Amino acid sequence: MTDKSIGTRVLRRLWTMALGERSWVSRTGDFRTRERYGLVGRPNYAYGMLRAADTARYFGHDQVTIVEFGVASGAGLINMSDLAGLISQETGVSFKIYGFDTGAGLPELRGPKDHPEIWNAGDFTMEDRATLERRLAGRATIIWGDIEQTIGPFVRELNPQVPVGFVSVDVDIYSATISALKLFDGDVLNYLPAVSMYFDDVGFFFANHWAGELAAINEFNEAHALRKIDRDRSLPSDRRPGGPRSWYGHMYACHLLDHPRRQTSMPRSQLTINAHARFMTENALF
Ligand SMILES: C[S@@+](CC[C@H](N)C(=O)[O-])C[C@H]1O[C@@H](n2cnc3c(N)ncnc32)[C@H](O)[C@@H]1O
Repeated sequence: MTDKSIGTRVLRRLWTMALGERSWVSRTGDFRTRERYGLVGRPNYAYGMLRAADTARYFGHDQVTIVEFGVASGAGLINMSDLAGLISQETGVSFKIYGFDTGAGLPELRGPKDHPEIWNAGDFTMEDRATLERRLAGRATIIWGDIEQTIGPFVRELNPQVPVGFVSVDVDIYSATISALKLFDGDVLNYLPAVSMYFDDVGFFFANHWAGELAAINEFNEAHALRKIDRDRSLPSDRRPGGPRSWYGHMYACHLLDHPRRQTSMPRSQLTINAHARFMTENALF
């Protein structure tokens, strides 16, 4: 029964009258529609990965690199690996997934910017490394060690055929975030022109622009003339009410203003205002 058949339309009408639109979408919707209705687990990862795939496709790539800084027991990385197949089916873009972690929890805190009022060295020690690696085998790679040491070699190995498209920063503390953001110090072609980002630790009572992940973002922006991390200004777009909303304020984008694709327009025929709106929608640019 196709979505256009009379039977489906009648069923849909009766179903939504009785149980609501969300229930219908939850039962029948494709991945993109379920994401719009807030029906996918970890909506921040679903959104960031879909955004990475759409941006990759817009710029002519069929593979993209995504990174989770801070793995702990691996719930986020497993979720990313599960989502990857669904989003590849939807977009045709495949993912290379990397996680970074000490494996031994938070390193020594280095002062007030690391929020010692909340965290202690050793918090979030990995519980079962062998089982996690088995569950991720062939789907994601964990780079063990302090990011301060592991990030440089990783950046040197980045591949412009598989540009970075989504980054989750969930390392809690300022000093580790400073190290993680060195990811963006490589050759510009190793990144999509804008990289979706999720920052986990920017929304609690003690969070402020002079400590933690927020301070690291500010200092990154001060140190880079043409690479800037800003809030994701597209959200919530047309996401439907009823789903979780708290993640919107955690989504950012790293804009690579020095990227060649941000210097001049691509040749194409001129568009009317309506055709331009269609172009934006079809390419998921809103
Ligand atoms: C809150 S946990 C991550 C939770 C995980 N993202 C999830 O969704 O389940 C924070 C993690 O960051 C890691 N971390 C913090 N600083 C680090 C550093 N400098 N190098 C490597 N890992 C670090 C810790 O080991 C810890 O496992």
